[in-house]
Amino acid sequence: MTVEDVIAADQEYILQTYQRPDFVLERGEGCYLFDTTGQRYLDFVAGIAVNALGYGDPDVTRAMTTYANGLIHTSNLFYTRPATELAQRLVQHSFADRVFFGNSGAEAIEGAIKFARKVAREQGHDDKTTIVAFSGSFHGRTMGAVAATHREKYRQPFMPVMPGVRFAPFNDLAAAEAAITDDVCAVLVEPVQGEGGLSTATPEFLRGLRARCDAVGALLIFDEIQCGMGRTGTLWAHEFYGVTPDMMTVAKPLGGGLPIGAILMTQAVADAIHAGEHGTTFGGGPFVATIAGVVFDKIADPAFLAHVRDVSDYLDEALHDFASSHPQVRELRGRGLMRGIQIEGSAAVLREVAHSAGLMVATAGDDVVRLLPPLIIDRQHVDELVTKLDGAFKQM
Ligand SMILES: Cc1ncc(COP(=O)(O)O)c(C=O)c1O
Repeated sequence: MTVEDVIAADQEYILQTYQRPDFVLERGEGCYLFDTTGQRYLDFVAGIAVNALGYGDPDVTRAMTTYANGLIHTSNLFYTRPATELAQRLVQHSFADRVFFGNSGAEAIEGAIKFARKVAREQGHDDKTTIVAFSGSFHGRTMGAVAATHREKYRQPFMPVMPGVRFAPFNDLAAAEAAITDDVCAVLVEPVQGEGGLSTATPEFLRGLRARCDAVGALLIFDEIQCGMGRTGTLWAHEFYGVTPDMMTVAKPLGGGLPIGAILMTQAVADAIHAGEHGTTFGGGPFVATIAGVVFDKIADPAFLAHVRDVSDYLDEALHDFASSHPQVRELRGRGLMRGIQIEGSAAVLREVAHSAGLMVATAGDDVVRLLPPLIIDRQHVDELVTKLDGAFKQM
């Protein structure tokens, strides 16, 4: 099939919910992607924060080829070792006591919402069902997750989505406190927002949410699906704040490109959920859990996280230099290797121009260029990013 054939067939057979650029990706190597014509792209998208270890990580590849001969799937009706070991690792490296495995970010959010309502119900509060979420939030596309996603364009066509969500302005503690009333069972927040434009929560905001949740008996849920697992330089983004949640959702990078999601929770939450009350066919299957274990061990290694912090500092400096010499840059946002450049003009146009310069960037909203490189980038990749961005800005 030629490039044109693939694009024509895609447009004929696949539901057109994405606008894709006019090339066809074929392979990846480290921090680079290659299309079918051999064009190389420096990848600052990483499959939307999934490919934390880049492409072709030898340990992940070895595990995939070795365990392809083993059990792939059993269902959750049976004990298997990889899921148990993965859960143990997640618990040992977090605030959590228990883990539930699913298949995606949105599914983790759905489960967390269900668990929050169940905790309230178990305590005799049948009316304590409201979820507070925030402006700029993105939690996924299913009926519960999308209900807690702020952008109206994602919700409106599918109304009625899950009822019982109240939005408050992000980083406005007084407004959030007013919204978190006795009927609230949980507050759902991304410590660093992804799709919504790379806003970072202030320490006072997250600390205040924790205190307010405790005061009204609501659970605090951190959505670390995009910002977790090393992306901001610590294993969990909330470590920066010294605030711990009651539940945390994790997905994207955990499976090394295979689908897996997880809900991490305290024992107090786990105590409210009983056998048969939640489930999933595929979640935490032995193959994906084995690979996730390999990925997790690599990312949780202190030396790996130190590297992320080092290259993040270098990126931070480079972006500030870039901003000072490019008046089109309005604001720099984000933390670690999760950065936003708010620009004068269209981020989508800049992304397209960047493609032709051999650079992949994502967008967040209309005017924010989003950078989500593999966590294995080094300084030379940052230098290349800056050179290519400069070219793209000039061409724009
Ligand atoms: C913060 C956050 N939560 C939830 C989701 C939904 O995850 P998934 O696309 O795996 O359903 C995303 C996806 O972009 C996300 O960034």
